Order: sequence, then C-alpha cells, then structure tokens
Amino acid sequence: MATSTIEHIPSRLQAVIRRKLLRWYDRHKRDLPWRRHSHNPYAQWVAEIMLQQTRVDTVIPYYKRFLARFPNAASLARGRQETVLKHWEGLGYYRRALLLHKACRQLYTQKKNVPSVAAELKALPGIGDYTAAAIASISNNESIAAVDGNVARVLARLFGVKLDVLSTQGKSHLTRLANQLIPVSRPGDFNQAWMDFGSEVCTPRRPACQACPLGGECFAYAHGLTDILPVRGATKAKKVPVVQVVVGVIAHGQHILVRRRPVGGLWGGLWEFPNLEITNGRRKSRIMTKLFEALSLEPDEWSARSTVVHQLTHRLMNFHVFSGQVSHRTDQKLSDAYRWVTHKQFDKLSVSTAHRKIYDAANETA
Ligand code: ADE
Repeated sequence: MATSTIEHIPSRLQAVIRRKLLRWYDRHKRDLPWRRHSHNPYAQWVAEIMLQQTRVDTVIPYYKRFLARFPNAASLARGRQETVLKHWEGLGYYRRALLLHKACRQLYTQKKNVPSVAAELKALPGIGDYTAAAIASISNNESIAAVDGNVARVLARLFGVKLDVLSTQGKSHLTRLANQLIPVSRPGDFNQAWMDFGSEVCTPRRPACQACPLGGECFAYAHGLTDILPVRGATKAKKVPVVQVVVGVIAHGQHILVRRRPVGGLWGGLWEFPNLEITNGRRKSRIMTKLFEALSLEPDEWSARSTVVHQLTHRLMNFHVFSGQVSHRTDQKLSDAYRWVTHKQFDKLSVSTAHRKIYDAANETA
C-alpha cells in the first residue's frame, strides 16, 4: 500500500488546509446547543463528557435538560448524586456522570472555578487529553489539537498514515500532525471543524470525496485508499461473552422491590430489580427460587415473562424476567440498599435502560 510517512507538514500546505477547512466550517457548521456557550468551560465540559461514546443527536436533548437543571459547576456540585444520575438516565456509561459530579464537588470544596487551561483540566477526574484539549481550545482559545477517533480517521486519510490509529504510536503521530495544523486564531473552531467534517464529509464508510474541499490535498483520495485507511488495530472478530441473568420484578400490593447498585462498576449508583446470574447452567425457575430465598421472601405466585436482551460494549446480557407477588415483607432481613417503591416512585428513580426494559417486560399483559 502506498503510504506517506510525513512528519512535518510544509507550511504552505498547513496554510491551505487551515483556510479550506475553516471556510468549509463557516458554511456548514452544525447548530449545536453547546456552541451557544462557547466561552463557558463548564458548558463545554458537560458536552464533551456526554459526547464520549455517544452520538451528537442522542446527546442534544440530554444536554439541554442537564444544563437547564445544572447551569453551572456549583449547582452540579450541590446536586444529589441520585438527581445527577436521573438526568443522565438512558445515556449510558454512567461512570462519566459520577466523575463529572465528583470533579465539580472537588472544585466547589476548593472554592475554584472550572479551569479552562488544558493542563489544569487534565488534573480533574474523568478528563483525558482529548477532552481537555477540546474544552480549552473552544472555551479559552488555547492552541491545542483535540484528536479523537473521528479526527484520527480524517488525518490518516489526508496524510496517508498507515499506522494503527488505535495504537499509542499511531495516536501520537496523528496528534503531532494535528498540532502542526492548529491555528493560533480560532483553534476551537478548527477542532470543531474536524469533528463536523468527519461526521458530514470524511465519514467512516463511503466518504463524500466528490464534495470534499480537501480533495486536492488528500493522499488517500489520490491513491484510491479511502476504503483502506485508517488502519484500525488487528481486525480480529472479538467474541463477546453472553451473560444470563434471572431478574425478578416482585410486588407487594402497590409496591415493587428495587435495590441500589454500589457506586463503582457497571451501572454504579443506579437502581435495579433483584437478580442473580446463571453461572452453572441451572434452570431459570430454580434460580428464581434461589432469588426469593436470598431475599427471604415467600411468593404467593410468580411466572416467567419475556427475555430482555441488552447489548453492552463488552458483553451481551440476557435478562430472563420473572414477575411475582408476595403478601409479607421481610424488610429487616434486607440490607439498606433495598427499597419497596410505588410505580410512581419507580419512575423517578435513576434506572438503567436495561432495567426500564425489564420493568416494561414484567408489566406487559400476556
Ligand atoms: N464530538 C465531540 N465533541 C464535539 C463537539 N464539540 N462538537 C461536535 N461533535 C463533537
């Protein structure tokens, strides 16, 4: 494969790319809610954290709701963890929200404002190189490149970089190239221009090369390599483990039993229905019996409902949903993590999308 090993971008080429990309951005930039708070590092911070692993379209309504409820870092610091998680419900990767909250509390305790310098931002929980660079360049005009997977793809094509974009070597090479291009004026716009350009023109599949303003400068286009670049790791198909779980939606009159997951780990701090993983191939009904026993509850009646399938990044979860009724509560035998709640109260809790689906499955009429 023809590839370039460019280390230094000639200054004339740098200038051409800057001019063409910014001109493209001025005409085509997306109207996104966080772009209305460009000089506010907190508003950029929330946006960048929400945008990690999550599509722009999905983020927009969450972002608006979150900023309306927590308009600044102090209001977020003062917010209860439960309320913060409730405003994140459905976005996934809840650890992001917990770290954002923790960082705001840290600043609040130290009576500090949200920093807008990349090096200081990186010292806060949950902020890495990319996020720090994005926030600092957008809110503070710091001349620092923000290179995520999308920007890496564009640069790998533009300069014919055949290094694995997921490798440390590949990432640092592309970051060095990006930092040569970043202008002193409008660095935030320039970073966001790459982002929009990567999502509108230089897309992962079938990039719009005919309409590309950088067609004349693009190595991959000139050499017919747009389908080959970027190189992304060893493309071994990974086998995702499938986890089988029995989950019980147990009612006592108008109340249902939920528990709060410990903070840290998957869905930390969120509420869920009691469940047990099937580890030894036992029958599901046997596991459900064990679950009732573990909760010291004796069911009046119970039945199997449907199976909720939930895909996570590293595993596929099959939740085998049971619903049951009990006429006696044994609260003294349950830990503090458990609570009997009404359906109305359940609506107000922060619950993962998987457990919302489980609730619906249990309440479906057969
Ligand atoms: N993806 C990550 N950050 C973004 C931003 N600031 N604008 C658009 N897309 C993004």
